[in-house]
Amino acid sequence: MSDTHVTDAIVQVCAAQLAPTLNVKSFFDDASSTASYVVHDPATKMAAIIDSVLDFDAAAGRTDTASADAIIEYVRDEGLTIEWLLETHAHADHLSAAPYLQTQLGGTLAIGRDIIRVQEVFGKLFNAGTEFARDGSDFDRLFDDGDHFSIGSIPAIALHVPGHTPADMAYVIGDAVFTGDTLFMPDYGSARADFPGGDARQLYHSIRRLLKLPPETRLFLCHDYKAAGRDTYVWETTVGAQRSGNVHVHEGVGEEEFVAMRTARDATLSMPALIMPAVQVNMRGGHLPAPEANGTRYLKIPLDAL
Ligand SMILES: [Fe+2]
Repeated sequence: MSDTHVTDAIVQVCAAQLAPTLNVKSFFDDASSTASYVVHDPATKMAAIIDSVLDFDAAAGRTDTASADAIIEYVRDEGLTIEWLLETHAHADHLSAAPYLQTQLGGTLAIGRDIIRVQEVFGKLFNAGTEFARDGSDFDRLFDDGDHFSIGSIPAIALHVPGHTPADMAYVIGDAVFTGDTLFMPDYGSARADFPGGDARQLYHSIRRLLKLPPETRLFLCHDYKAAGRDTYVWETTVGAQRSGNVHVHEGVGEEEFVAMRTARDATLSMPALIMPAVQVNMRGGHLPAPEANGTRYLKIPLDAL
């Protein structure tokens, strides 16, 4: 589907929601600086959970569902029906709680189709056996660029926004966009593009595409890291605020300038603390590796490979 065609379709979806009818509830995980969302259509109480977190104590090798249980409590209190469990990408900084939430609340687990490329790369890195299918079947639905779906009566569209990883998606739902790891708050900039399969040039074009949306479009980010001089976490902004004020990609910043900045900055960043556990769980749709003969599940750490 052409860029213009998809952008036109998105603008139509946004225009269909003149008032901010989509209800958005945020859950912020301090440990990984991740914002998860429960979004719902007030008219039908149909809902989606976006980028949930399974708590993980790496030192102890222990998972915990406290963050996910807070989401479950909210969903039950509000009387919501979960239609979708949406992942913007295979996260490298936290484990997804989507499979756990699905057992408790139902819903269709979805991600972008290029997760297959991510599964191929990380399947090799972790030397996963043949039980790891690498065909996207750990998910229930693989979105292509421009795919339409809905949450109750609210129209939505999946947008392929590669760069941070090959498979990143942004979800346009009513008048709101869930940007995943493309943009961060205007004072913090953009996501890194140096993970396997990442590409700063692609990220630039993905961001430019998002910023073609109407200026009043609400943007909900996947992370906030408190830019220097700011004491509170913030994870909601607008297209207009990003166009005028994003420190990395405000209007007027060209592709070459962005790529040079992003590449130089990425060279200074260390790997996220949870990249090894996160990626080998999230490449499986958040499913933990199968137990070994003694009944215990194990994660691997490839040495000198990243
Ligand atoms: Fe990410």
